[in-house]
Amino acid sequence: MAWDTLIVEVEDNVALVRLNRPEALNALNSQLMSELARALTELDRDDQVRCIVLTGSDKAFAAGADIKEMSTKGFVDMFTEDFFTADSETLLRVRKPIIAAVSGYALGGGCELAMMCDFIICSESAKFGQPEINLGVVAGIGGTQRLTRFVGKSKSMDMHLTGRFMDAAEAERSGLVSRVVPVADLVKEAMDAARKIASKSQVAVKVVKETVNRSYETTLREGVLYERRIFHALFASEDQKEGMAAFSEKRQPQFRDR
Ligand code: CAA
Repeated sequence: MAWDTLIVEVEDNVALVRLNRPEALNALNSQLMSELARALTELDRDDQVRCIVLTGSDKAFAAGADIKEMSTKGFVDMFTEDFFTADSETLLRVRKPIIAAVSGYALGGGCELAMMCDFIICSESAKFGQPEINLGVVAGIGGTQRLTRFVGKSKSMDMHLTGRFMDAAEAERSGLVSRVVPVADLVKEAMDAARKIASKSQVAVKVVKETVNRSYETTLREGVLYERRIFHALFASEDQKEGMAAFSEKRQPQFRDR
């Protein structure tokens, strides 16, 4: 499928999805968000694909929602269109892991999009921010909630209220990103991580994604109980038998995703 605002390639069971609106630093307009939601849904259904990497350019992952598209809208337009809700909910329904690979600007909706992925690897040039305050608005696709959970209230308030940017070192220190690598290595690092994930039992991979995400939605006690029951349930899978037998026999497991 050809896209106007994305470049999608599949290699070694990993899909690389590149945001591609260089003229606007990959600003998220309705077309891009709709194409991204459709592309990720297709990749989620594609048996050849076992993990997804979402990236931008060296200059920008995405510089936010498209300000030019939004600027003339009124409340009724935004409310009636339910701006970005359907597409962002679609992203969150993808069951395969999505790694955000961020270089350059990840601002506003761009930072929020990265946080909707399962984890973020960034390069030394990354700059994260929620500068909506400078436009007289607030984050609109989860920034106030997700950034607060990632980095805590104090830093989140600072970012949202002052609109300042956070560099890669601060993002790693604060737990927003899992690793920082040189710009030139970013996509390779993310693709290597994705290939590693693609080599695991896909039953266990989906379970891990669901179970970690559960920690955002429930209490500690309920989350631990959910994890324990799912852990028990995996003993009904062939891949659990294979993984544990391979360990005892000192060989690599041959997972069959069953
Ligand atoms: N929307 C639309 N166009 C954008 C854009 C955005 N968010 N960000 C950058 N662009 C466009 C610029 O208008 C410019 O286009 P023209 O050449 O046609 O003028 C082009 O991309 C290059 O940008 P700059 O010339 O500004 O590049 P720079 O290197 O000087 O500055 C920047 C880079 C600091 C990222 C600056 O572009 C900027 O501040 N962008 C806006 C960031 C922002 O406020 N994001 C939040 C948006 S609101 C939001 O996201 C709400 C939400 O939560 C859903």
